[in-house]
Amino acid sequence: MSEATTGKYVETTVAGETVRAFVPNPLPPKLTKEDLASLQEPIGAAETALERLRSAGEMIPSMDWFVYSFVRKEALLTSEIEGTQATLADVMSYEQTGQSGSSDIADVEEVTNYVRAANYAFEQLSSEKGLPVSSRLLDECHHRLMQGVRGKNKQPGEIRRSQVWVGGTRPGNAVFVPPPWDHVRDLLGVLETYIHTDDDLQPLLRIAAAHAQFETIHPYLDGNGRIGRLLIALLLAHWQILDAPLLYLSVYLKEHQSEYYDQLGSIRKSGTWADWFHFFLEGTIEVATLATATASALNRQVNDDRKIVISAESVTVSTIQLFEALPKHPVISMPLVTRILSRSKPTASKAIDLLIKQGILTEIGDRKRDRIYKYDKYLQILE
Ligand SMILES: Nc1ncnc2c1ncn2[C@@H]1O[C@H](COP(=O)(O)OP(=O)(O)O)[C@@H](O)[C@H]1O
Ligand SMILES: [Mg+2]
Repeated sequence: MSEATTGKYVETTVAGETVRAFVPNPLPPKLTKEDLASLQEPIGAAETALERLRSAGEMIPSMDWFVYSFVRKEALLTSEIEGTQATLADVMSYEQTGQSGSSDIADVEEVTNYVRAANYAFEQLSSEKGLPVSSRLLDECHHRLMQGVRGKNKQPGEIRRSQVWVGGTRPGNAVFVPPPWDHVRDLLGVLETYIHTDDDLQPLLRIAAAHAQFETIHPYLDGNGRIGRLLIALLLAHWQILDAPLLYLSVYLKEHQSEYYDQLGSIRKSGTWADWFHFFLEGTIEVATLATATASALNRQVNDDRKIVISAESVTVSTIQLFEALPKHPVISMPLVTRILSRSKPTASKAIDLLIKQGILTEIGDRKRDRIYKYDKYLQILE
């Protein structure tokens, strides 16, 4: 396919330099009969893998376990694609105490911001008066993502008012120059209409297409990758494929980061939508299968450990209650434990000590005060 069929180039001037910015054609993408035929098998496989993941979620006592952990896992990985480095335990401990352990505090803050943005968005989608999938909703997410040290100069919650570029040191030598800023609002409006209009294309392909289109529009100064990947999770819910954010697709996109970027570029250059769809479906199958296995492993670990806890001679009611809370709070501190148990500090402390003795909890670091503990075997399955 020629350039003319994927969009058009518009000349724009940035810092005295004239560059060609790309304005994509609206969705849906153009696919041949052969393209569509070749996609049927992987679509079927991806749907099955997602169905398995959904039922794995239903088999456990509390879906919250997985949602809590999987959202943080996705947060970590999607931020890693952007370049931040943190551990899951440090993110969870930061949420408890405001301390980041050995990870850089700005990194941990960014990961936590993503969690806040994702939680906010899913609340909106599931509440009757909440926002639907829309640029408004994404702006609100962006606002939450861009809080704190690194984000504050990135126009949180606002569509950009200047030219951006991807790769390279200036627009003139960039890998990709997204649309001029004054095209962005219209392009997003058209994308939003596409999302809310019926279409013959299978929802999984529509999701992959919407993500690529969003990245090509590149509406924000920064955070486009993370908001665009959040959009994938939101659309899975919007089209009722997966209600809860259980698919941490970023694990795959991180692992194949250069191919991921190349695919996005190649859609623009050569209209290779079908290749991108194959790549996306393969990732969906791989991660849904992995997440299902992770879910079973977590479930098994909790069941095994439960046996250990309840068969201990010195076990107390509070100990069992604390243990049952661990899957949802795999990193805990004294204030959280007293809150979970609604009991005094000595009772909480006794419960923690018992779980330490049984090898279920371990202390993070060696702080004298405000100690933090983790359910390490559980976290290890997630990392
Ligand atoms: N050639 C490309 N064409 C379109 N989008 C791209 C291309 N290469 C990378 N991207 C997208 O741009 C994102 C990076 O943009 P950025 O605004 O820095 O987002 P974030 O800060 O969340 O990483 C990548 O994660 C990817 O999704
Ligand atoms: Mg960035």
